[in-house]
Amino acid sequence: MFKRFRRTRINENLRNMLQETTLSKNDFMYPLFVKEGSNIKKEVESMPGVFQMSIDEIIKECEYIYSIGLKSIMLFGIPDVKDSVGSECLCEESIIARTIKAIKQKVPDMFIATDLCFCEYTDHGHCGILDPKTKTVDNDKTLELSAQQALVHAKAGADMIAPSGMMDGIIEVLRTTLDSNGFENLPIMAYSTKFASAYYGPFRDVAESTPSFGDRRTYQMNSANRLEAIEESLEDEKQGADILMVKPALAFMDVIRDIRNSSNLPLCAYNVSGEYAMLKHAGNAGLVDYEKVMIETLIGFKRAGANMIITYHAKEACEFLNKN
Ligand code: PBG
Ligand code: ZN
Repeated sequence: MFKRFRRTRINENLRNMLQETTLSKNDFMYPLFVKEGSNIKKEVESMPGVFQMSIDEIIKECEYIYSIGLKSIMLFGIPDVKDSVGSECLCEESIIARTIKAIKQKVPDMFIATDLCFCEYTDHGHCGILDPKTKTVDNDKTLELSAQQALVHAKAGADMIAPSGMMDGIIEVLRTTLDSNGFENLPIMAYSTKFASAYYGPFRDVAESTPSFGDRRTYQMNSANRLEAIEESLEDEKQGADILMVKPALAFMDVIRDIRNSSNLPLCAYNVSGEYAMLKHAGNAGLVDYEKVMIETLIGFKRAGANMIITYHAKEACEFLNKN
């Protein structure tokens, strides 16, 4: 005799009761891009609905998203001045530091994670300090400056630090630095498995962080590598990461599952800019039902094993959850 699966699908209440994976407003972290100036809210062409904002506008945005139950953001800074070592992000009054303090004054309970990298701050656009001879990123020099940048974020009041540059040893260096400066309770979310991906294209328009030469393949991972992906995350766990991450997410659902099954740490999926842009433009072109495809995609990340999702859809997803 065959099994009648439809028995548990016919009644809507039962169907909902038996849903294995659910989405909650607590699942999301919303990326925000802060630019110098005031009264600036500039939409990015490649990412409709995503803006570069000045601090005053970021505060208004934070007040709104907090009011709809979106209580966690990831901050990216877009400085006016760039140089070879990214000096802007190393000073106490960096754009990120000023933004954190301003948000905390107006929306004190907003959870603020900061992206820690150099690509937005360097004139060459790479994620670290260059070795003048080889013109590739100098890993250990970048570690030293990353420790400085982490203290700027921590002293300004960041709630979590998320290093995204894919330098070897970064978690250990940041953990040691934070611990020895009284920030032993500040969590680190590692961009532990981050692939060199063309899906970051639109982000680099928003963050003004496209490398001026070459690409990021000497530090970000080869997207064909599954075993190395697991190793990268387990290494960050060993160095003291509190949360692991897979980035991008959509083409890497298998890797999310692999890491979920290899580590017991909380796991974040970063639903990146190109993934958002694909859905958004397809929705705007009338090709798909944007809201439904968005929810199906976000549930997919959780089903694959993610505990939390960084996503440009976060605001719309919370608005959807509030009305459904
Ligand atoms: C910076 C950084 C990038 C993203 C997050 N942090 C871009 C990159 O590595 O080039 C990508 C985010 C996205 O595409 O949404 N290192
Ligand atoms: Zn970077």
